[in-house]
Amino acid sequence: MVGRFSGKVAIITGSSFGIGRETALLFAKEGAKVTVTGRNEERLQGTRQALLDSGIPETNFLIVPADITTSSGQDTLISKTLERFGKLDILVNNAGASIPDSQKRTGINQGIETYEQVMRLNVQSVIEMTQKVRPHLAKSKGDIVNVSSIVALNFGWARTPYYPLAKAALDQYTRSAAIDLIHEGIRVNTVNPGVVQTGFHESATGLSSDASQKFYDDMGSNPSAIPCGFSGRPEHIAKAIAFLAHRDSSEYIIGQNIIADGGTSLVLGLHAQFPRQTKN
Ligand SMILES: NC(=O)c1ccc[n+]([C@@H]2O[C@H](COP(=O)([O-])OP(=O)(O)OC[C@H]3O[C@@H](n4cnc5c(N)ncnc54)[C@H](OP(=O)(O)O)[C@@H]3O)[C@@H](O)[C@H]2O)c1
Repeated sequence: MVGRFSGKVAIITGSSFGIGRETALLFAKEGAKVTVTGRNEERLQGTRQALLDSGIPETNFLIVPADITTSSGQDTLISKTLERFGKLDILVNNAGASIPDSQKRTGINQGIETYEQVMRLNVQSVIEMTQKVRPHLAKSKGDIVNVSSIVALNFGWARTPYYPLAKAALDQYTRSAAIDLIHEGIRVNTVNPGVVQTGFHESATGLSSDASQKFYDDMGSNPSAIPCGFSGRPEHIAKAIAFLAHRDSSEYIIGQNIIADGGTSLVLGLHAQFPRQTKN
């Protein structure tokens, strides 16, 4: 397929659902060979079907079930990609979540094991993947895009403090990695989404999908939460990721954040909304 990612090979973590799935679809439609990954077989099959339905031939994508928090999962993901496509040009570190406390504790009483799980997924796996792909991206003069969140920005998040902490750490890691890796021709940048309609809210709060949808609708219709008037959809974030992953579009942008949130971070409403809408 011909497009702006023709000839490129991309790994998109967390592409069994949500933002990652939409990013894999966009990249593949624009010519990339993509490796799709996640833990859940059924969701992975959903992405496979979405790719086929979009006319992407099986030869242009690879599905690798893997837990990104494990060293063996990371190694398998990279080695299978290289084996199948022969090189790597783009890594999108998108897998992430706000993992609920197993004992439903909130605030600073959330357990240290919750802190460790959240950090391992949202930060440590990105650090490890970055180290492991470095030689391959140095060869291809490749690009890394990390998916952070607006919760990394400068306001507190009282009920679930570890997820914002992890995303803030990810933003800072991006800046440091960017100035280290640019000497090898590798660019690193970040997209920080706001409220986006994916599986994120359901898994973070335990709400049903109907209740989550109501949350997205309520947020979208509240201009003091989302000034643009609607909750984000995965394709909004995929487009920002593609911009940062595409050298010709964003060559001179290094270690920066694109905030894709419909204006939420410009107003104070979001933080006021969440405690009333979520239970954990
Ligand atoms: N949606 C939002 O409102 C929002 C806002 C700001 C930031 N974000 C960020 O956007 C990114 C994508 O989230 P999303 O909104 O698309 O959520 P989602 O629909 O819940 O998708 C999360 C993806 O991450 C994967 N994942 C989670 N833990 C994993 C693990 N241990 N190993 C491998 N894959 C794992 C999931 O795959 P499996 O379930 O198959 O393992 C899934 O593909 C995350 O980094 C999230 O923090 C989302």
